[in-house]
Amino acid sequence: MRERWLNERRQEHYYRLAKKTGFRSRASFKLIQIDERFDIFREGDAVADLGAAPGGWLQVAKELVGEKGRVVGVDLRPIKRLEDVVTITGDITEDSTMLALVNELGGKADVVLSDMAPDISGNYSTDHARSVYLCKHALGVCDRVLKKNGKLVMKVFMGDMIKTLREETERRFAEVKMHSPDASRPTSSEMYIIATGFKAQTRVKMVENQEEKPKRFTIKGDLL
Ligand SMILES: C[S@@+](CC[C@H](N)C(=O)[O-])C[C@H]1O[C@@H](n2cnc3c(N)ncnc32)[C@H](O)[C@@H]1O
Repeated sequence: MRERWLNERRQEHYYRLAKKTGFRSRASFKLIQIDERFDIFREGDAVADLGAAPGGWLQVAKELVGEKGRVVGVDLRPIKRLEDVVTITGDITEDSTMLALVNELGGKADVVLSDMAPDISGNYSTDHARSVYLCKHALGVCDRVLKKNGKLVMKVFMGDMIKTLREETERRFAEVKMHSPDASRPTSSEMYIIATGFKAQTRVKMVENQEEKPKRFTIKGDLL
């Protein structure tokens, strides 16, 4: 009982802090806590943020990569303008959105973030399956845009397909951990997969399209 009360107080604390600090969502605190623990960002990093609306993670990422960094956010929903951050409105499961992302990054990313979540149906296994589907697309984004030794932070709703998802992540990254930040709601089934040391053993290449200036890219090859 006391535990629950403390957790509720903590959630309230993050909510108030988000309002006070001007963060667009409570989710910002999850990313701050993840970065404190796993040391994700470096100054000057290029970051792709999938499922970025309303922009709480974009704000944190931009702050942590600094002026020389590049942050590109993608979401189905439009994101209100944020200084020095590029946003794309689109579905990341579509190639056209993936290409827009690569073009806006102007090359490869040091970090891929995915806080993507499906519309919640309330059915635990349906929501889990949809979440895993989005995670698989986030891994596909890594195959296409992540630098060797790059990092991934990805949200997933827990369920019986986690083992396979974890294995798919382990094939691509040297180290994979599961983490539940304090700022997550205690009742939530969400976890974050923190993966580092991207192996870049992929048959997918982004090839510069010579005919177009400035640089544009096209997709060659299949996913693993
Ligand atoms: C929990 S919110 C993200 C919150 C965000 N990290 C922040 O800090 O403000 C999840 C987002 O995932 C987006 N999303 C779900 N499916 C997507 C898809 N296929 N492509 C792009 N975005 C998607 C949703 O539109 C939603 O805005």
